[in-house]
Amino acid sequence: MKKIIRFGVSIEEDLLAAFDRYIQKGGYQNRSEAIRDIIRKEFVDEEWEKGATVAGCILLVYDHHKRDLLSKIMDIQHDYFESIISTQHIHMDHHNCLEIIVVKGRAEVVRKTYGLLKSLKGVKYSSLSRASTGEKI
Ligand code: NI
Repeated sequence: MKKIIRFGVSIEEDLLAAFDRYIQKGGYQNRSEAIRDIIRKEFVDEEWEKGATVAGCILLVYDHHKRDLLSKIMDIQHDYFESIISTQHIHMDHHNCLEIIVVKGRAEVVRKTYGLLKSLKGVKYSSLSRASTGEKI
């Protein structure tokens, strides 16, 4: 267990009131939890910007009936297999597939992989959730 340090923060009254509304909406139990999350998010963003080793999740929703699309998605995943940890395929309904691709690797390679996947014709929705390997935060 890491040692916890307490410190004081000086902040404008109206900014603190806005922050308290933010943490209440976010379901935080106290300000410390919210501040820790915000600091960690900043560091994760920095990892992505600096091109460090990052982790994350690519989400795709696509048309199951576009057969060439399925093979294109597979081709890209094989080309970038070193950055892909696992893939989960969910058959949403008769027409739609949802794929969750867990990635870990250099930020620029993960971004490239995501760019190739999301721009395929027939992909209806995509997102990249940027996370951290957890080593630096
Ligand atoms: Ni499917």
